[in-house]
Amino acid sequence: MLAQYRDLLGARHLDVGPGTAWFLKHTRSGSRVDITLMDLNPNSLETASARIASLHPKTITADVLEELPGSVAVYDSIGVNYLFHCLPGTWDDKGAALDHLAPHLDDDGVLFGSTILGSGVEHNALGRRLMRFYNRVGIFHNSDDDVAGLQRALEARFREVRVDVVGRVAMFSARGATA
Ligand SMILES: C[S@@+](CC[C@H](N)C(=O)[O-])C[C@H]1O[C@@H](n2cnc3c(N)ncnc32)[C@H](O)[C@@H]1O
Repeated sequence: MLAQYRDLLGARHLDVGPGTAWFLKHTRSGSRVDITLMDLNPNSLETASARIASLHPKTITADVLEELPGSVAVYDSIGVNYLFHCLPGTWDDKGAALDHLAPHLDDDGVLFGSTILGSGVEHNALGRRLMRFYNRVGIFHNSDDDVAGLQRALEARFREVRVDVVGRVAMFSARGATA
C-alpha cells in the first residue's frame, strides 16, 4: 500500500478517509504535494492533519456517500485507502462514492486505494472472528464485498482499471473517468 502511495501520489492529492494519515506521512512526498484530507469524522481530520502538519493539508468534513461540498477541487490523485470496507451497503451503494469523486479527478489523474474483501477470499480463524465482530458492530460493512463487484463498480466509471488481490485485500487504481 505504501508503494502504491509512493507510485501514484500526484501533485494535487485528495485523501478520502485518511484515518491517521500513516501512509501520507510515510510516503515522504516532501512539500511539493498539495494535500486535501476529506473525512466525515472531524476527529480523524484533526489527527491526520496534525500528523502531516508540515505538508499544510487542507481539510474537508464530508460524507463521501453524499453530494460533495463546493470546496472539493480537481486533483491529480485521489486516495481511498481502506475506505470501501467501512462504507455501508452493496457495491452499488458504495459506488456512489465513486460517482461523487470521479468528476474531481483530472483527465490524467488516478484514483487508487485498497479494501479488505469479505467474500470470495479465505480469512483465517482470527480474521473470520474479527470480520464477524467488526461487521456486527458496524465498523466494517464488507461481508458481501467481492472482487468482481469492486471491478464492476470501477469499470462502470473509469476507462482504465487495475485490480489485484493480495491476500484478502483488493488493491486498485483507475484512470479516465467516463462521466
Ligand atoms: C479504516 S480507516 C482508513 C484509514 C487510512 N486511509 C489508512 O489506510 O490507514 C477509514 C476512514 O474512512 C473514514 N470514513 C468512513 N466512512 C466515511 C464516509 N462515508 N465518508 C468519508 N470518510 C469516511 C473514517 O472516518 C476513517 O478515517
